[in-house]
Amino acid sequence: MRKPFVAGNWKMNTDSHTSVKLVERIACGSEETAGQSITVAVCPPFVYLQAVAKALSSSSIAVGSQDVYFEREGAFTGEMLKDVGCSYCLCGHSERRHVIGESDELINKKVAAAIAGGLLPILCVGELLEEREASQTNEVVTRQVKEGLAGLIAEKIQAVTIAYEPVWAIGTGLTATPEQAQEVHDFIRKLLGQMYNKKLAGEIRILYGGSVKPDNAADLMSQKDIDGSLVGGASLKADDFLAIIQAAV
Ligand code: PGA
Repeated sequence: MRKPFVAGNWKMNTDSHTSVKLVERIACGSEETAGQSITVAVCPPFVYLQAVAKALSSSSIAVGSQDVYFEREGAFTGEMLKDVGCSYCLCGHSERRHVIGESDELINKKVAAAIAGGLLPILCVGELLEEREASQTNEVVTRQVKEGLAGLIAEKIQAVTIAYEPVWAIGTGLTATPEQAQEVHDFIRKLLGQMYNKKLAGEIRILYGGSVKPDNAADLMSQKDIDGSLVGGASLKADDFLAIIQAAV
């Protein structure tokens, strides 16, 4: 029922040449699946968004940004994402929460602004290692989901994808086991059911992120509530990213 979704978060990697080469290879290798049996998106660094969107103009791969500002226009940084070809944007990625210090309140403004601007936000949530060890995972995720979506009515929520990314698994080589991830995905889906309704909760895609690689992707994707993945490091290698896409179809 839910179409699988694999998104690559390139973070601050590639350059003007390699960003285009990378998407050309991804587009070529996913021609038969992307857009039809699976949603595929790449989130390149801001400065290469336009070049990447142009290189993908005749493909079904979507482009996303790694962040968004909540004001529409004015004396801000001018993140005119739609204008440069973005359809998706990440909101509240762990690096924004824990390195830059973004609050749930700010992330909520970004999610709302993204929807208002016609973008499809990917709201990232996930606990720190010490929070998991203190059995606070559900509590943390509940706060991040509830506050991240505060004030958004059911009709707006259809635009949202959730990415569960345990912070201890991001870029560390440690991955949640498929069972650990499924447990949290199931919890988030039930929470969405309480916040909205069961039907809507059953339609929202929940991606797993945190050291997803070709060799663990299939096991993660086989879980009932894992609808795809948000891939960091492995999305920078076309063959690895294509293998992860294939595992999710
Ligand atoms: P990783 O990053 O796959 O390199 O762990 C995931 C992410 O930060 O979204």
